[in-house]
Amino acid sequence: MTEKNQIYKCEICGNIIEVLHEAGGQLVCCGEPMKLLEENTVEASLEKHVPILSETPQGVLIQIGSVPHPMEEKHYIEWIEIITKDGKTGRKFLNPGDKPEAEFFMPLDNILFAREYCNLHGLWKSK
Ligand SMILES: [Fe+2]
Repeated sequence: MTEKNQIYKCEICGNIIEVLHEAGGQLVCCGEPMKLLEENTVEASLEKHVPILSETPQGVLIQIGSVPHPMEEKHYIEWIEIITKDGKTGRKFLNPGDKPEAEFFMPLDNILFAREYCNLHGLWKSK
């Protein structure tokens, strides 16, 4: 049974998908069940991954993280996503060399949580 907004990864080819409609089937890629990515919230390494939210004149800025995360060819934040209290999703895809941040034009108090995906360290969620 999947749940809306869960993120799954194929450990063979690297496909990553997000659930838009929950249902009972098992998600399979490359002939194997896809792995549910659990969101980390506790910093454990020197690099900081937990999204930091702050208010801007137009909306909200999400920065990764308390110390800017590397944005190198082999190690970078692939995307930043917000889920709002009123059922909206916003996502910005990033590339190596970009700043590890994204601004969304929604009020801070409407944000349920923000999360991001690091190509080496996985999925991280704001508190
Ligand atoms: Fe990382």
